[in-house]
Formats: sequence, C-alpha cells, structure tokens
Amino acid sequence: MTVRHFLDLWKIDGADLRAILDEAHRRKAARAGWPTGRVDADAPLKDRVLAMVFEKNSTRTRFSFDAAIRQLGGSSIIANAGDMQLGRGEPIEDTARVLSRMVDAIMIRANRHDDVERLAQAATVPVVNGLTDKSHPCQIIADLLTIEERRGPVRGMTLAWVGDGNNVCASLIHASGRLGFRLRIACPADYHPDLMDLARSGDGDVSVTQDAALAVAGADAVFTDTWVSMGDTDHDARLAAFEPFCVDEELMARAAKDALFLHCLPAHRGEEVTDAVIDGPQSVVFDEAENRLHAQKAVLVWCFNGI
Ligand code: CP
Ligand code: NVA
Repeated sequence: MTVRHFLDLWKIDGADLRAILDEAHRRKAARAGWPTGRVDADAPLKDRVLAMVFEKNSTRTRFSFDAAIRQLGGSSIIANAGDMQLGRGEPIEDTARVLSRMVDAIMIRANRHDDVERLAQAATVPVVNGLTDKSHPCQIIADLLTIEERRGPVRGMTLAWVGDGNNVCASLIHASGRLGFRLRIACPADYHPDLMDLARSGDGDVSVTQDAALAVAGADAVFTDTWVSMGDTDHDARLAAFEPFCVDEELMARAAKDALFLHCLPAHRGEEVTDAVIDGPQSVVFDEAENRLHAQKAVLVWCFNGI
C-alpha cells in the first residue's frame, strides 16, 4: 500500500478532504466534556509514535499535534531542527530514512517547502506538512471545521481572504474547488497568490482583486493572517503595502450579516485586524485554534488509512 503523506490539499481529492472533515467533526463530538488526556474510545493509533520536527516557532501546531497523537492512543517525540544533525547539514533524505526506522509518522514545520517534499520522498512512513513557506494545509482543515460547526457544510459558501497571498491563503485556494466554495481574495499587487497555486484550486471559483471591500461583499466568512510571515524579510515594505487591508468593523459590515471572522493566529492587533473585530462577536479565532487539535487527529487517522 502506498504511504499516505499529507503534504498539500491539492494533492488530496475532494472525497478524502470531506472524509477528513467529517472524521474531525465526529471525533470532536464523541469526546465532548472528556478530560484532555483521556484516549478516544477506539484508540486508533495505539502504540504509534509521531515525530515532530520544527525549523520554525510554533504554539498551536506543536501542542495540537502532541495532544492529538495522545488522544489517538499514541505518543510523540518532539525536536527543534536546530538541535538535530539536520541543523548541521545532515541530508534531509538521511534524516527521513533514520526517523522512518524509529517512528510511525513524521510531522515537520519547515522553512523550505521543497525540503518537506524531499523528506516525504525518502521516508517510508507518512509525512505531514505542519507549515512551510508555501502552504499550511492542517490550518485550513481546522478553519473549515470551524465554519462548518457554526454554519453547516462549506459547499456553496463564499469565503473572503484579505491581506497577504501567503502560505495559509495558498492552502485555502487548494481546498476551494475540491470542497466547492467560492473564494474572493483581496491583496496588494505585489503580494498576490502564486499563479501555480491558483492553478491548483481544483476548478475552484477563485478571484483576486486589490479592493478589500469588493472581496468581502456578502461573504459568509472573512479570513486574514499576519502581514509578515516567518521568514519574510521586507517588514517595512509590507506594513506600508498592506495598510488598506486591515480587517476592521467597517470592512466586516460589508460581509454577510453574522459573517464569521477567522485568523490562524498569532495575530497582530492594530495591523491586519482591529481589536474590535478579533475580540468581537463575529470572531471564532479561539474555536479555530482549538480545532487544530480535532483537525490534526483526523489528518493522522487518514494518514494511517483509518478513514
Ligand atoms: N496557526 C499556527 O500554525 O500557529 P503556530 O505557528 O503557533 O503553530
Ligand atoms: N503565515 C504565517 C502563519 C503562521 C501560523 C507564517 O507563515 O508565519
């Protein structure tokens, strides 16, 4: 059987993405009210070990994957890449071969997307992309889960992305056609999503404009993210270019009544979003953060052919 890597949403067909979302909803509901440390009744990854490798900082990804593997009945080994020989130049392919002898799956947060692809090519166990410079697929599973909890299936919805056409935006683009939602993106011309990612929308209805009000008009949910991602060096140029793309109450008022506000976090209040929006009644950012755990569990179960 081929190894199921979770590298990018465009590499996974719509039926599997739907199954991952359904699994996340189901597992979350099945353990409502349980203590965090109790293992799910079916313990689907009992005795499995997940390695987690971080080349960049993380709070949500680190804690959610660690909690996820424990709730599925397994355990984790976590390392910062700088503490590994990887950080001293050991080839990523050799790292993949070694870890594949000791663990059952590898989650990696990497600086360069290509390194994750190389790791997966050399590994004999599933590899999960925990964010790269190009994409953040686990985040989008959690985000769609959050919208569906409040509003039902995303198929047919109109979602708006305001700000940087970055890694998180790319994964949202990849999901659009596969899960059947429209996506309206507003970003400055110099920070447009990659054309390759737009081509990977899976026949999605995706449009890009420089007019934030136009993108948000009537949308069911509004997303934004930091203007300066990890690894970006042009901080001052970005703050200047993104100034008209702050999600404030005036912009949210153009979306559908009761539209949801999403942000993967960490947020920079007063830059990409105002306090009134992120801390206001339409914001679901902390449900979204919690849902990283439930999303991660479904992704891991899928990697082990459990769904
Ligand atoms: N949203 C997200 O991936 O957060 P961390 O960087 O804290 O993992
Ligand atoms: N776009 C952000 C997401 C952080 C979770 C970054 O890459 O830094």
